Amino acid sequence: MDTKIAMIGTGNLGQSIVNGLIQEDAASNIIATRRNVNKLSTLKEQGVDVTDNNAHAVNNAEIILLGLKPYTILETIEGLKDQLVPGKHVLVSLATGISIEEISNVVGEGFEIYRAMPNTGASVNESLTCICGPEDGPNLEKVKQIFDTIGESIIINENLMEAATVLGACGIAYVLRFIRAMVQGGIEIGFDANTASKIVNQTVLGASQMLIQNGNHPEDEIDKVTTPKGCTISGLNQMEHNGFSSSLIKGILTSFEKIEK
Ligand SMILES: NC(=O)c1ccc[n+]([C@@H]2O[C@H](COP(=O)([O-])OP(=O)(O)OC[C@H]3O[C@@H](n4cnc5c(N)ncnc54)[C@H](OP(=O)(O)O)[C@@H]3O)[C@@H](O)[C@H]2O)c1
Repeated sequence: MDTKIAMIGTGNLGQSIVNGLIQEDAASNIIATRRNVNKLSTLKEQGVDVTDNNAHAVNNAEIILLGLKPYTILETIEGLKDQLVPGKHVLVSLATGISIEEISNVVGEGFEIYRAMPNTGASVNESLTCICGPEDGPNLEKVKQIFDTIGESIIINENLMEAATVLGACGIAYVLRFIRAMVQGGIEIGFDANTASKIVNQTVLGASQMLIQNGNHPEDEIDKVTTPKGCTISGLNQMEHNGFSSSLIKGILTSFEKIEK
């Protein structure tokens, strides 16, 4: 990728994205900022231009990724207004709950503005990033390319961004809690924690890859492993009697109601 990219606010998520871009040989095209710039020394060693000067970063980039917290993003871009030029700069906000309209109200009209919602799978290049913005935006493909370096990305409507946050970003926690419970069950039936984790982690990866690679419905794959009168279906039905699917769906709805407020 030969586009100059500035990551304003290079924290947990920002570093994951920059790491993904570095693997695409793009280090020399990236400027990463944060106030405690010494925390970016590893990126610096890999050829990334690191600075605490946001204005310098914006002046030297075309795509501006905003990795700032939702409560600081608007005041930070307010301070960068004089450096931002419509037609030159494309803005991509990672901040949860801050709309394109709110950003546009600060920077003024004429900017191509996107929002992106990755998840922490980005740290191992396995994020699913939901992107929204102008569908006919001339730089949409470039923006998508950035997030494809840290996993997969899809384009959605902005009115689904909160739902995307729940299913994709909070979703990591739901899946991890499921994994933890499975490990605990594994320990109870005889495995030490490390062995149980190894079995469960790889089993989850395999299950997920079967759906990704074959495009099957989960129930089709479940049918393949549920022998009539067998132990799998007995265990599964017991889980359902105790509200397994219902509990997960209710949890997702509760997170969604909370985020909507
Ligand atoms: N983590 C996730 O799973 C996830 C997923 C999707 C979206 N998001 C969103 O992504 C954003 C970042 O999340 P995060 O987890 O990466 O947070 P984070 O680790 O706190 O990163 C934010 C960074 O911004 C820097 N910063 C603060 N003020 C700044 C300023 N004026 N100029 C330059 N840098 C500044 C901070 O470093 P200094 O204090 O050194 O300046 C900090 O490292 C949030 O809006 C969050 O809603 C996160």
